Amino acid sequence: MSFTRRQILGGLLGLTAVGLGVGGVRYWLGRPLGSTTHDYELIAAPLDLELIPGHSTPAWAYGGQAPGLEIRAKQGEWLRVRFINKLDVPTTIHWHGIRLPLEMDGVPYVSQLPVLPGEYFDYQFKTPDAGSFWYHPHVASSEQLGRGLVGPLIVEEREPSGFLHERTLSLKTWHIDEKGAFSAFSVPREAAREGTRGRLTTINGKAVPSLELPAGQVVRLRILNLDSTITYRLNLPGAEARIYALDGQPIEPRDLGKEYWLGPGMRIDLAVRVPAAGAELSLRNGPLRLATLKSLATAEAVGDWPAPLPANPVAEPDLQQAEVLRFNFEWSATLAGANDKGPAKYWQINGQAWDIKDKTCADRPIATLKKDGHYIFELRNMAQYLHPVHLHGLAFKVISSNRKKIIPYFTDTYLLGKNESVRIALVADNPGIWMFHCHVIDHMETGLMAAIEVV
Ligand code: C2O
Ligand code: CU
Ligand code: CU
Repeated sequence: MSFTRRQILGGLLGLTAVGLGVGGVRYWLGRPLGSTTHDYELIAAPLDLELIPGHSTPAWAYGGQAPGLEIRAKQGEWLRVRFINKLDVPTTIHWHGIRLPLEMDGVPYVSQLPVLPGEYFDYQFKTPDAGSFWYHPHVASSEQLGRGLVGPLIVEEREPSGFLHERTLSLKTWHIDEKGAFSAFSVPREAAREGTRGRLTTINGKAVPSLELPAGQVVRLRILNLDSTITYRLNLPGAEARIYALDGQPIEPRDLGKEYWLGPGMRIDLAVRVPAAGAELSLRNGPLRLATLKSLATAEAVGDWPAPLPANPVAEPDLQQAEVLRFNFEWSATLAGANDKGPAKYWQINGQAWDIKDKTCADRPIATLKKDGHYIFELRNMAQYLHPVHLHGLAFKVISSNRKKIIPYFTDTYLLGKNESVRIALVADNPGIWMFHCHVIDHMETGLMAAIEVV
Protein backbone atom coordinates (compact mmCIF):
# COMPACT_ATOMS: atom_id res chain seq x y z
CA MET A 1 0.00 0.00 0.00
CA SER A 2 1.12 3.57 -0.35
CA PHE A 3 1.52 5.82 2.61
CA THR A 4 0.42 9.36 3.19
CA ARG A 5 3.49 11.46 2.65
CA ARG A 6 5.23 12.52 5.81
CA GLN A 7 5.71 16.22 6.20
CA ILE A 8 8.83 17.94 7.34
CA LEU A 9 8.68 20.49 10.03
CA GLY A 10 10.13 23.44 8.11
CA GLY A 11 6.74 24.66 7.00
CA LEU A 12 5.58 24.93 10.58
CA LEU A 13 7.94 27.66 11.67
CA GLY A 14 5.21 30.22 11.29
CA LEU A 15 2.93 28.34 13.61
CA THR A 16 5.62 28.15 16.24
CA ALA A 17 5.79 31.91 16.14
CA VAL A 18 2.06 32.41 16.63
CA GLY A 19 1.48 30.44 19.71
CA LEU A 20 3.40 27.35 20.68
CA GLY A 21 4.24 28.37 24.17
CA VAL A 22 6.27 26.60 26.80
CA GLY A 23 3.73 23.85 27.12
CA GLY A 24 4.08 23.35 23.40
CA VAL A 25 0.42 22.89 22.66
CA ARG A 26 -2.24 25.04 21.17
CA TYR A 27 -5.86 24.11 21.05
CA TRP A 28 -8.09 26.19 18.82
CA LEU A 29 -11.24 26.81 20.77
CA GLY A 30 -12.52 28.77 17.83
CA ARG A 31 -13.96 26.61 15.09
CA PRO A 32 -13.80 27.26 11.38
CA LEU A 33 -16.98 28.89 10.08
CA GLY A 34 -19.75 26.48 9.14
CA SER A 35 -17.98 23.51 10.64
CA THR A 36 -17.71 21.92 14.04
CA THR A 37 -14.18 20.69 14.03
CA HIS A 38 -11.70 20.26 16.81
CA ASP A 39 -8.13 21.03 15.91
CA TYR A 40 -5.06 20.23 17.94
CA GLU A 41 -1.38 20.55 17.51
CA LEU A 42 0.15 17.84 19.56
CA ILE A 43 3.87 17.81 20.18
CA ALA A 44 5.83 14.87 21.50
CA ALA A 45 9.01 16.07 23.20
CA PRO A 46 11.29 15.28 26.14
CA LEU A 47 10.14 16.70 29.47
CA ASP A 48 11.72 16.39 32.90
CA LEU A 49 9.13 15.40 35.49
CA GLU A 50 9.34 15.50 39.24
CA LEU A 51 7.60 12.22 40.01
CA ILE A 52 9.69 11.78 43.15
CA PRO A 53 10.11 14.97 45.17
CA GLY A 54 13.56 16.48 44.65
CA HIS A 55 14.41 14.19 41.73
CA SER A 56 13.92 14.52 38.05
CA THR A 57 12.76 11.86 35.60
CA PRO A 58 13.65 12.27 31.90
CA ALA A 59 10.16 11.57 30.57
CA TRP A 60 8.69 12.00 27.10
CA ALA A 61 5.49 14.01 26.94
CA TYR A 62 2.55 14.77 24.69
CA GLY A 63 1.50 18.39 24.83
CA GLY A 64 3.86 19.24 27.67
CA GLN A 65 2.55 16.66 30.10
CA ALA A 66 2.84 12.96 30.87
CA PRO A 67 0.37 11.31 30.78
CA GLY A 68 -0.36 13.47 27.78
CA LEU A 69 -2.77 16.26 27.07
CA GLU A 70 -6.41 15.26 27.23
CA ILE A 71 -7.79 15.42 23.70
CA ARG A 72 -11.54 15.93 23.39
CA ALA A 73 -13.66 15.28 20.34
CA LYS A 74 -17.38 15.07 19.62
CA GLN A 75 -19.12 11.91 18.52
CA GLY A 76 -19.64 11.70 14.77
CA GLU A 77 -17.44 14.70 14.03
CA TRP A 78 -13.94 15.06 12.68
CA LEU A 79 -10.93 15.04 14.93
CA ARG A 80 -7.90 16.60 13.30
CA VAL A 81 -4.59 16.41 15.09
CA ARG A 82 -1.37 17.72 13.66
CA PHE A 83 1.20 15.57 15.42
CA ILE A 84 4.70 17.01 15.62
CA ASN A 85 7.62 14.79 16.57
CA LYS A 86 10.21 16.69 18.58
CA LEU A 87 11.74 13.54 20.01
CA ASP A 88 14.97 12.21 18.60
CA VAL A 89 13.39 8.85 17.72
CA PRO A 90 10.76 7.83 15.16
CA THR A 91 7.22 7.35 16.49
CA THR A 92 3.53 7.22 15.54
CA ILE A 93 0.20 7.72 17.29
CA HIS A 94 -2.35 4.95 17.57
CA TRP A 95 -5.87 5.92 18.70
CA HIS A 96 -6.84 3.04 20.95
CA GLY A 97 -10.47 1.96 20.58
CA ILE A 98 -11.40 4.35 17.79
CA ARG A 99 -12.96 2.70 14.74
CA LEU A 100 -11.18 4.61 12.00
CA PRO A 101 -9.65 4.11 8.53
CA LEU A 102 -6.45 2.07 8.46
CA GLU A 103 -4.31 5.01 7.26
CA MET A 104 -5.02 6.77 10.56
CA ASP A 105 -4.36 3.79 12.85
CA GLY A 106 -0.73 4.62 13.60
CA VAL A 107 0.79 1.19 13.00
CA PRO A 108 4.24 1.56 11.39
CA TYR A 109 4.60 0.03 7.90
CA VAL A 110 0.93 -0.98 7.96
CA SER A 111 -0.87 2.34 8.36
CA GLN A 112 1.96 4.77 7.75
CA LEU A 113 5.69 5.25 7.84
CA PRO A 114 7.10 6.20 11.23
CA VAL A 115 7.10 9.95 11.86
CA LEU A 116 10.79 10.82 11.98
CA PRO A 117 12.34 13.36 14.34
CA GLY A 118 11.43 16.84 13.15
CA GLU A 119 8.53 15.67 11.00
CA TYR A 120 4.81 16.04 11.43
CA PHE A 121 1.83 13.92 10.47
CA ASP A 122 -1.80 15.00 10.17
CA TYR A 123 -4.20 12.54 11.74
CA GLN A 124 -7.76 13.19 10.61
CA PHE A 125 -10.72 10.92 11.24
CA LYS A 126 -14.29 10.87 12.47
CA THR A 127 -15.07 9.50 15.90
CA PRO A 128 -18.14 7.25 15.53
CA ASP A 129 -18.34 6.22 19.17
CA ALA A 130 -18.64 8.40 22.26
CA GLY A 131 -16.63 7.32 25.28
CA SER A 132 -13.28 7.17 27.04
CA PHE A 133 -10.44 6.24 24.68
CA TRP A 134 -6.70 6.91 24.61
CA TYR A 135 -3.68 7.34 22.41
CA HIS A 136 -0.11 6.06 22.37
CA PRO A 137 2.72 5.21 19.93
CA HIS A 138 2.97 1.86 18.16
CA VAL A 139 6.77 2.01 17.76
CA ALA A 140 9.32 0.86 20.36
CA SER A 141 6.35 0.63 22.68
CA SER A 142 7.90 -0.50 25.95
CA GLU A 143 10.24 2.49 25.98
CA GLN A 144 7.88 5.05 24.43
CA LEU A 145 4.84 4.23 26.58
CA GLY A 146 7.17 3.63 29.51
CA ARG A 147 8.59 7.14 29.28
CA GLY A 148 5.13 8.67 29.34
CA LEU A 149 3.75 8.78 25.79
CA VAL A 150 0.19 7.87 26.75
CA GLY A 151 -2.81 10.20 26.88
CA PRO A 152 -6.60 10.27 27.21
CA LEU A 153 -8.92 10.82 24.25
CA ILE A 154 -12.43 11.67 25.32
CA VAL A 155 -15.23 11.56 22.77
CA GLU A 156 -18.23 13.45 24.06
CA GLU A 157 -21.77 12.25 23.42
CA ARG A 158 -23.79 14.08 20.75
CA GLU A 159 -26.28 15.27 23.35
CA PRO A 160 -25.41 16.21 26.94
CA SER A 161 -25.01 12.94 28.83
CA GLY A 162 -26.70 14.05 32.05
CA PHE A 163 -23.44 14.13 33.98
CA LEU A 164 -22.78 17.63 35.26
CA HIS A 165 -19.37 16.76 36.67
CA GLU A 166 -16.61 14.54 35.43
CA ARG A 167 -12.92 13.81 35.97
CA THR A 168 -10.41 11.86 33.93
CA LEU A 169 -8.06 9.63 35.92
CA SER A 170 -5.12 8.28 33.94
CA LEU A 171 -3.39 5.45 35.76
CA LYS A 172 0.26 4.69 35.18
CA THR A 173 2.94 2.93 37.19
CA TRP A 174 6.39 4.26 36.30
CA HIS A 175 9.52 2.17 35.84
CA ILE A 176 11.71 4.38 38.00
CA ASP A 177 14.01 3.94 40.98
CA GLU A 178 14.02 5.93 44.24
CA LYS A 179 15.97 8.73 42.53
CA GLY A 180 13.56 9.04 39.63
CA ALA A 181 15.87 7.38 37.08
CA PHE A 182 14.24 4.97 34.66
CA SER A 183 14.80 1.29 35.30
CA ALA A 184 14.42 -1.34 32.55
CA PHE A 185 11.04 -1.11 30.80
CA SER A 186 11.19 -4.77 29.88
CA VAL A 187 13.19 -7.46 31.65
CA PRO A 188 13.31 -10.83 29.84
CA ARG A 189 12.42 -12.98 32.81
CA GLU A 190 9.42 -10.74 33.56
CA ALA A 191 8.36 -10.46 29.90
CA ALA A 192 8.14 -14.25 29.90
CA ARG A 193 5.81 -14.09 32.91
CA GLU A 194 3.33 -11.38 33.93
CA GLY A 195 5.22 -8.49 32.30
CA THR A 196 7.66 -5.97 33.78
CA ARG A 197 6.02 -3.88 36.48
CA GLY A 198 6.98 -0.33 37.35
CA ARG A 199 7.32 0.89 40.93
CA LEU A 200 5.56 4.22 41.31
CA THR A 201 1.81 4.26 40.69
CA THR A 202 0.34 7.61 39.73
CA ILE A 203 -2.96 9.15 38.69
CA ASN A 204 -2.52 12.00 36.21
CA GLY A 205 1.18 11.90 37.07
CA LYS A 206 0.78 12.20 40.87
CA ALA A 207 1.21 9.49 43.46
CA VAL A 208 -1.90 9.09 45.65
CA PRO A 209 -3.44 12.45 44.75
CA SER A 210 -6.39 14.06 46.51
CA LEU A 211 -9.26 14.92 44.21
CA GLU A 212 -11.88 17.37 45.36
CA LEU A 213 -15.42 16.52 44.32
CA PRO A 214 -18.72 18.36 44.95
CA ALA A 215 -20.72 16.96 47.87
CA GLY A 216 -23.98 15.22 47.01
CA GLN A 217 -23.32 15.26 43.27
CA VAL A 218 -23.02 12.30 40.95
CA VAL A 219 -19.63 12.55 39.26
CA ARG A 220 -18.47 10.63 36.20
CA LEU A 221 -15.00 9.21 36.82
CA ARG A 222 -13.32 8.14 33.62
CA ILE A 223 -10.63 5.76 34.83
CA LEU A 224 -8.10 4.80 32.17
CA ASN A 225 -5.42 2.17 32.58
CA LEU A 226 -2.58 3.61 30.50
CA ASP A 227 -0.01 1.33 32.07
CA SER A 228 2.05 -1.18 30.10
CA THR A 229 1.77 -4.09 32.53
CA ILE A 230 -0.43 -3.78 35.57
CA THR A 231 -4.02 -4.88 36.01
CA TYR A 232 -5.47 -2.60 38.68
CA ARG A 233 -8.06 -4.19 40.96
CA LEU A 234 -10.26 -1.16 41.36
CA ASN A 235 -12.46 -0.74 44.38
CA LEU A 236 -14.08 2.14 46.24
CA PRO A 237 -15.02 0.88 49.71
CA GLY A 238 -18.20 2.35 51.15
CA ALA A 239 -19.03 4.32 48.01
CA GLU A 240 -22.20 4.37 45.98
CA ALA A 241 -20.67 3.70 42.55
CA ARG A 242 -22.18 2.43 39.33
CA ILE A 243 -20.52 1.34 36.10
CA TYR A 244 -21.87 3.27 33.08
CA ALA A 245 -19.41 2.22 30.39
CA LEU A 246 -16.61 -0.27 29.82
CA ASP A 247 -13.79 0.53 27.42
CA GLY A 248 -15.75 3.41 25.99
CA GLN A 249 -18.89 1.39 25.28
CA PRO A 250 -22.01 2.09 27.40
CA ILE A 251 -23.58 -0.69 29.45
CA GLU A 252 -26.82 -0.89 31.41
CA PRO A 253 -25.64 0.79 34.63
CA ARG A 254 -24.83 -1.59 37.45
CA ASP A 255 -23.13 -1.43 40.81
CA LEU A 256 -19.35 -1.45 40.81
CA GLY A 257 -19.48 -4.28 43.32
CA LYS A 258 -16.49 -5.49 45.22
CA GLU A 259 -13.76 -5.00 42.65
CA TYR A 260 -13.24 -4.46 38.92
CA TRP A 261 -10.08 -5.70 37.20
CA LEU A 262 -8.91 -3.01 34.82
CA GLY A 263 -6.19 -4.46 32.58
CA PRO A 264 -3.65 -2.45 30.56
CA GLY A 265 -5.43 -0.41 27.88
CA MET A 266 -8.86 -0.79 29.50
CA ARG A 267 -11.16 1.97 30.71
CA ILE A 268 -14.14 2.20 33.03
CA ASP A 269 -16.66 5.02 33.38
CA LEU A 270 -18.00 5.10 36.92
CA ALA A 271 -20.73 7.25 38.34
CA VAL A 272 -19.94 8.00 41.97
CA ARG A 273 -22.29 9.65 44.43
CA VAL A 274 -20.03 12.03 46.37
CA PRO A 275 -20.74 11.75 50.11
CA ALA A 276 -21.58 14.64 52.45
CA ALA A 277 -19.10 17.52 52.71
CA GLY A 278 -15.99 16.65 54.68
CA ALA A 279 -16.23 12.91 54.02
CA GLU A 280 -13.60 11.01 52.04
CA LEU A 281 -13.54 8.01 49.78
CA SER A 282 -10.53 5.95 48.89
CA LEU A 283 -10.06 4.69 45.35
CA ARG A 284 -7.93 1.58 45.68
CA ASN A 285 -6.03 -1.07 43.76
CA GLY A 286 -6.79 -4.12 45.90
CA PRO A 287 -5.73 -2.94 49.37
CA LEU A 288 -3.55 -0.07 48.08
CA ARG A 289 -4.79 3.49 47.96
CA LEU A 290 -4.62 5.09 44.52
CA ALA A 291 -6.36 8.38 45.32
CA THR A 292 -8.35 10.12 48.01
CA LEU A 293 -11.66 11.57 46.88
CA LYS A 294 -12.52 14.53 49.11
CA SER A 295 -16.02 15.90 49.33
CA LEU A 296 -16.34 19.68 49.24
CA ALA A 297 -19.49 21.63 50.13
CA THR A 298 -21.38 23.01 47.13
CA ALA A 299 -24.45 25.17 46.64
CA GLU A 300 -25.81 22.79 44.02
CA ALA A 301 -28.90 20.74 44.75
CA VAL A 302 -28.25 17.03 45.30
CA GLY A 303 -27.69 15.39 41.92
CA ASP A 304 -29.49 12.39 40.52
CA TRP A 305 -28.21 9.29 38.74
CA PRO A 306 -28.10 10.09 35.03
CA ALA A 307 -29.92 7.90 32.51
CA PRO A 308 -27.84 5.16 30.86
CA LEU A 309 -25.51 6.48 28.16
CA PRO A 310 -26.82 6.07 24.60
CA ALA A 311 -25.47 3.01 22.78
CA ASN A 312 -22.79 3.55 20.15
CA PRO A 313 -23.53 2.61 16.52
CA VAL A 314 -21.72 -0.73 16.59
CA ALA A 315 -23.10 -3.44 14.26
CA GLU A 316 -24.75 -6.35 16.07
CA PRO A 317 -23.15 -9.71 15.21
CA ASP A 318 -25.55 -12.47 14.22
CA LEU A 319 -24.39 -15.48 16.22
CA GLN A 320 -26.45 -17.95 14.18
CA GLN A 321 -24.71 -17.21 10.90
CA ALA A 322 -21.30 -16.36 12.34
CA GLU A 323 -18.19 -18.29 11.36
CA VAL A 324 -16.13 -19.49 14.33
CA LEU A 325 -12.36 -18.90 14.46
CA ARG A 326 -10.09 -20.11 17.25
CA PHE A 327 -7.12 -18.28 18.70
CA ASN A 328 -4.88 -19.90 21.27
CA PHE A 329 -2.70 -17.60 23.36
CA GLU A 330 0.31 -19.74 24.16
CA TRP A 331 3.39 -19.50 26.30
CA SER A 332 6.27 -20.85 24.36
CA ALA A 333 8.83 -22.35 26.70
CA THR A 334 10.93 -23.79 23.89
CA LEU A 335 11.64 -20.37 22.47
CA ALA A 336 12.20 -18.79 25.85
CA GLY A 337 15.98 -18.60 25.66
CA ALA A 338 17.36 -15.22 24.70
CA ASN A 339 18.39 -15.19 21.08
CA ASP A 340 21.15 -13.06 19.56
CA LYS A 341 19.26 -12.75 16.31
CA GLY A 342 16.40 -10.48 17.10
CA PRO A 343 14.07 -10.13 20.05
CA ALA A 344 13.21 -13.05 22.30
CA LYS A 345 9.86 -14.70 21.67
CA TYR A 346 8.07 -16.00 24.71
CA TRP A 347 4.52 -15.90 23.41
CA GLN A 348 2.56 -16.91 20.35
CA ILE A 349 -0.93 -17.01 18.91
CA ASN A 350 -1.84 -20.30 17.17
CA GLY A 351 1.82 -21.22 17.02
CA GLN A 352 2.96 -17.94 15.47
CA ALA A 353 5.09 -15.38 17.28
CA TRP A 354 5.13 -11.81 15.99
CA ASP A 355 8.56 -10.32 15.40
CA ILE A 356 8.56 -6.58 16.08
CA LYS A 357 11.80 -6.21 14.10
CA ASP A 358 10.29 -7.76 10.96
CA LYS A 359 8.44 -5.11 8.96
CA THR A 360 6.73 -7.77 6.82
CA CYS A 361 4.82 -9.62 9.57
CA ALA A 362 1.56 -7.88 8.69
CA ASP A 363 1.83 -9.33 5.16
CA ARG A 364 1.02 -12.70 6.73
CA PRO A 365 -2.26 -12.16 8.57
CA ILE A 366 -3.33 -14.84 11.02
CA ALA A 367 -6.90 -14.62 9.71
CA THR A 368 -8.68 -13.05 6.77
CA LEU A 369 -12.25 -11.92 7.32
CA LYS A 370 -14.78 -11.03 4.66
CA LYS A 371 -15.94 -7.45 4.76
CA ASP A 372 -19.31 -7.32 6.57
CA GLY A 373 -18.98 -10.97 7.56
CA HIS A 374 -20.07 -12.10 11.03
CA TYR A 375 -17.53 -13.91 13.20
CA ILE A 376 -17.16 -15.54 16.57
CA PHE A 377 -13.62 -15.72 17.93
CA GLU A 378 -12.83 -18.26 20.60
CA LEU A 379 -9.89 -16.97 22.59
CA ARG A 380 -8.12 -19.50 24.78
CA ASN A 381 -5.50 -18.58 27.33
CA MET A 382 -3.19 -21.60 27.54
CA ALA A 383 -1.21 -20.11 30.44
CA GLN A 384 -1.66 -18.68 33.89
CA TYR A 385 -0.86 -15.02 33.09
CA LEU A 386 -3.44 -12.37 32.24
CA HIS A 387 -3.68 -11.11 28.68
CA PRO A 388 -5.69 -7.97 27.95
CA VAL A 389 -6.47 -8.92 24.36
CA HIS A 390 -7.00 -5.91 22.13
CA LEU A 391 -8.19 -5.55 18.53
CA HIS A 392 -7.68 -2.45 16.42
CA GLY A 393 -10.25 -0.99 14.04
CA LEU A 394 -13.32 -2.93 15.19
CA ALA A 395 -15.39 -3.22 18.34
CA PHE A 396 -16.36 -6.72 19.44
CA LYS A 397 -19.02 -8.15 21.68
CA VAL A 398 -18.05 -10.39 24.59
CA ILE A 399 -20.52 -13.30 24.60
CA SER A 400 -19.49 -15.95 27.11
CA SER A 401 -16.65 -17.32 29.19
CA ASN A 402 -15.88 -20.67 30.77
CA ARG A 403 -14.73 -18.93 33.96
CA LYS A 404 -17.38 -16.35 34.76
CA LYS A 405 -20.82 -15.07 33.98
CA ILE A 406 -20.77 -12.53 31.17
CA ILE A 407 -23.41 -9.90 30.58
CA PRO A 408 -22.71 -9.38 26.85
CA TYR A 409 -21.11 -6.02 26.09
CA PHE A 410 -19.06 -4.33 23.38
CA THR A 411 -15.40 -3.52 23.90
CA ASP A 412 -12.01 -3.25 22.21
CA THR A 413 -10.01 -5.05 24.93
CA TYR A 414 -10.88 -8.15 26.92
CA LEU A 415 -8.90 -9.23 29.96
CA LEU A 416 -8.36 -12.91 29.30
CA GLY A 417 -7.88 -14.58 32.68
CA LYS A 418 -5.80 -17.52 33.78
CA ASN A 419 -6.65 -20.51 31.54
CA GLU A 420 -9.85 -18.79 30.46
CA SER A 421 -11.71 -19.42 27.20
CA VAL A 422 -13.98 -16.66 26.00
CA ARG A 423 -16.19 -16.15 22.97
CA ILE A 424 -16.31 -12.76 21.34
CA ALA A 425 -18.27 -11.80 18.23
CA LEU A 426 -18.03 -9.06 15.66
CA VAL A 427 -19.13 -7.81 12.27
CA ALA A 428 -16.06 -7.18 10.11
CA ASP A 429 -17.36 -3.89 8.78
CA ASN A 430 -14.08 -1.97 8.64
CA PRO A 431 -11.67 -3.05 5.88
CA GLY A 432 -8.00 -3.04 6.80
CA ILE A 433 -5.18 -4.91 8.45
CA TRP A 434 -5.87 -4.74 12.15
CA MET A 435 -3.42 -5.54 14.93
CA PHE A 436 -4.67 -8.08 17.40
CA HIS A 437 -2.46 -8.22 20.46
CA CYS A 438 -1.98 -8.46 24.16
CA HIS A 439 -1.73 -5.02 25.77
CA VAL A 440 0.85 -6.13 28.31
CA ILE A 441 3.49 -4.38 26.25
CA ASP A 442 6.29 -6.77 26.83
CA HIS A 443 4.05 -9.72 25.93
CA MET A 444 3.22 -7.89 22.71
CA GLU A 445 6.89 -7.22 22.01
CA THR A 446 7.89 -10.84 22.64
CA GLY A 447 5.42 -12.44 20.27
CA LEU A 448 1.83 -11.90 21.38
CA MET A 449 0.62 -9.96 18.37
CA ALA A 450 -0.96 -10.88 15.04
CA ALA A 451 -2.64 -9.13 12.12
CA ILE A 452 -6.25 -9.73 11.14
CA GLU A 453 -7.17 -8.70 7.66
CA VAL A 454 -10.64 -7.57 6.60
CA VAL A 455 -11.15 -7.51 2.82
CU1 C2O B 1 -3.60 0.41 22.52
CU2 C2O B 1 -2.23 -1.75 19.39
O1 C2O B 1 -2.98 -0.67 20.96
CU1 CU C 1 -5.59 -0.11 19.70
CU1 CU D 1 -0.30 -10.88 27.64
